[in-house]
Amino acid sequence: MTVVLRTIPEARRWVRTERTSSGALGLVPTMGSFHEGHLSLIRRARQICDRTIVSIFVNPLQFAPGEDYESYPRDFDRDLSLATQEGVDAVFHPEAGEMYPSGLVTSVGVGKLGEALCGASRPGHFQGVATVVAKLFHIVQPDRAFFGQKDAQQALIIRTMVLNLNWPLQIEVCPTVREPDGVAYSSRNRRLSAEERSRATVLYRSLRLAESLIQSGERNVACVEQQMQKQIQKMIHAVPGAEIDYARLVDPATLGGLQQIRGEVLAAVAVRFGKTRLIDNLSIKIAPERQARG
Ligand code: PAJ
Repeated sequence: MTVVLRTIPEARRWVRTERTSSGALGLVPTMGSFHEGHLSLIRRARQICDRTIVSIFVNPLQFAPGEDYESYPRDFDRDLSLATQEGVDAVFHPEAGEMYPSGLVTSVGVGKLGEALCGASRPGHFQGVATVVAKLFHIVQPDRAFFGQKDAQQALIIRTMVLNLNWPLQIEVCPTVREPDGVAYSSRNRRLSAEERSRATVLYRSLRLAESLIQSGERNVACVEQQMQKQIQKMIHAVPGAEIDYARLVDPATLGGLQQIRGEVLAAVAVRFGKTRLIDNLSIKIAPERQARG
């Protein structure tokens, strides 16, 4: 049976009694509305941890005014039954007032990493993410925590926070899980119209285009970025309200722009379909013989 914990003292008590001296306690932080991406993290946690706790909390701090906090999909009963099927030991599902009683003044700053890519159009978002994840880490005190490569910037920011604040836990980043047509699973996909959903395949296709250009020898950053943008634009220009937020090649360690294409690069895209914003990314490793030539 999966135990449901709704308050911080309940969660702390569960952790105290369930933590074993030998096995690891794994935490999978989520905002619920589970799909295969979430389930892959849960399965990985179950595989390598002795106890697994999943948090389900739509975090108001990471939504800006006018974003989709109110309308973010919520389906706790379905999530709980999936968690039970997956053998999750506990679900932590607090109310917003439990996590944020009035008078919160402390938050976690994430510096420049929070301003790149998605941070440019979502100021404060990653500070909100880091703050809630820090709170979850303090409440649960996991040995391992699981995040998806789908949100590469988020995963990097959390890894950096853990390193910078000397947190004694291991961050595991799991591969992006995609639908058969390549679209990365996201809770927001269900918001798309049939037309938008079919156009959404262009995110992953533009990433694969960048990969194939680079693997066949292209070393000009602007040229690859332009080709990605051109391909996306061609696919979305007729869709009302669709626009590119970014299509970029960045340094996977800093998320900053690149002078040269070498070693490993991160191709990252974000496209808006009306109020729904989709993101995806692909890590591209340049084959050594090509690197030597370029
Ligand atoms: P949420 O969007 O619910 O995602 C929870 C976790 O699932 C994140 O680590 C995310 O990267 C991962 N994930 C989402 N889609 C995925 C996919 N297609 N393949 C693999 N992993 C995927 O990300 C958040 O919630 C929040 O920001 C949170 C970290 C919980 C803080 O509030």
